[in-house]
Amino acid sequence: MTVPRPAGPSETPAGSILRRQRERESSARTYARSFPIVPARAQGMVVEGVDGRRYLDCLSGAGSLALGHNHPVVREALRRTLDSGAPLHVLDLATPEKDDFTDALFATLPKGFADRARIHFCGPAGTDAVEAALKLTQTATGRRGVLAFTGAYHGMTAGALAASGTVAVKERVAGGGAGEVTRLPYPYAYRCPFGVGGEGGTDLAVTYAERLLDDPAGGVVPPAAMILEAVQGEGGAVVAPDRWLRAMRRITSERDIPLIVDEVQTGVGRTGAFWAVEHSGVVPDVMVMSKAVGGGLPMAVIVYDERYDGWLPGAHTGTFRGNTLAMAAGAATLRYVAREGLVARAAAVGAWMTARLEELRGALPVIGDVRGRGLMIGVELVDVAGPLDACGAYPADPDLARRVRAACLERGLIVELGGRYDATLRLLPPLTITDEEAGEVVERVAEAVAAVVAESLGSGSGGRSGGTASGSGPGGPTTYGVGGLAAGWGVVASDSDSDSGSVARVGGEAEAAGDGSVAPGADGVPGADASARER
Ligand SMILES: Cc1ncc(COP(=O)(O)O)c(C=O)c1O
Repeated sequence: MTVPRPAGPSETPAGSILRRQRERESSARTYARSFPIVPARAQGMVVEGVDGRRYLDCLSGAGSLALGHNHPVVREALRRTLDSGAPLHVLDLATPEKDDFTDALFATLPKGFADRARIHFCGPAGTDAVEAALKLTQTATGRRGVLAFTGAYHGMTAGALAASGTVAVKERVAGGGAGEVTRLPYPYAYRCPFGVGGEGGTDLAVTYAERLLDDPAGGVVPPAAMILEAVQGEGGAVVAPDRWLRAMRRITSERDIPLIVDEVQTGVGRTGAFWAVEHSGVVPDVMVMSKAVGGGLPMAVIVYDERYDGWLPGAHTGTFRGNTLAMAAGAATLRYVAREGLVARAAAVGAWMTARLEELRGALPVIGDVRGRGLMIGVELVDVAGPLDACGAYPADPDLARRVRAACLERGLIVELGGRYDATLRLLPPLTITDEEAGEVVERVAEAVAAVVAESLGSGSGGRSGGTASGSGPGGPTTYGVGGLAAGWGVVASDSDSDSGSVARVGGEAEAAGDGSVAPGADGVPGADASARER
């Protein structure tokens, strides 16, 4: 057992906590590598470290915090439940809190789905709900295989991992997860799997799927389900065109294949619809929900058409399926999002931020693509010295992306990477983000990209990006002055603990080196993959 050393004389409290974490926790930890900070308090979008530094949190618990940190309605629901003396752990027994949560959730479901819906409470992680969805459809159809997509992320348990696209994680696990998976191309205009892009790429993705399933020599036996995300989150905020989603619904319906839509990350208003599938008008057979549905507390459910409800009692059981506090927090969150118009707000602020980032792309060519829906935004960073691909895109630049993530953190902005090669900045702010915060996020991203580019060019300037990020906030004019919100936000790289802890080494070199391996001297195993993050 590693016995952590006591704090050295020059160590800050944050530095010593981070060091102890490095010494004691698994080499598979991930966010802790990207963000060497020690949160002590959080409110709304603001996280404050034990050292008093403050950050705008654009990660939001990987999309779990629809209302940001510690929202008053969530705190009130938790307090009320605790004070009521309700049992906090109830397996899957009926409770008033569960009944109320189910009411609140069913009130949000897409039209044509709620009246036929059944809910199953799963173990409290998205990945367990994915397993449940696969098991449900396998039981109902008597088939085994699953149709899943390139770029998908469905979780880390065996079936969910098998359905995911992430090769770096899968190749280290014998068999890459469990299950028969047929991989189909997801439409991704910027990096089109057919090298075509645009509408043509979408058409080909539809034609390919349909012909493969109908080809008597195509090798695909009739599958138990198709599983997809309407917007691929971990995949880099890649938005499927609505007409592609409608085509997948048609193709699955015509062949009697249940359609599972994984709304773990896209749900509860994030994309500017309560459920992302609603943009297309598609009614799925199974919806997988977690993250925001528990109001920031662990919870996962599947909601499905009652005609599939043929599995046996205990077919998907688990000890922690009755988290009363999560049900109370989740019900409060669902009702607040609906009542306060946060779905439309996510659409409006997201469109505004995306438009500003798109302007920035015009000024900074290393921003290859800006995409997303609502408050699920991706900024893909590219190597402009590399060769153009068939669609006119430069290669992804993961090293640049890591440096930009670190430069964002230095400017008090928490933003994580995702997508192919982890080269896409993923913005997932809470739906409660203010106009001023939205302006600040864009400004800090602009500053960070400009600073890293300037550094690469050898000018060493960390200055602003020539005013390209200035403009109006979504609800009116926003001032982007250097003074503004920036005052008091942490500049982590200047931490005096640079030699003893990882706090000062936020450039990524200490934990995850530029090539994705762990640098000598850092903890963890050499070659540990930076993309294998804990979600
Ligand atoms: C679309 C999607 N499905 C499933 C999961 C897995 O959820 P969890 O990390 O709670 O197991 C995630 C996590 O990021 C996700 O984004």
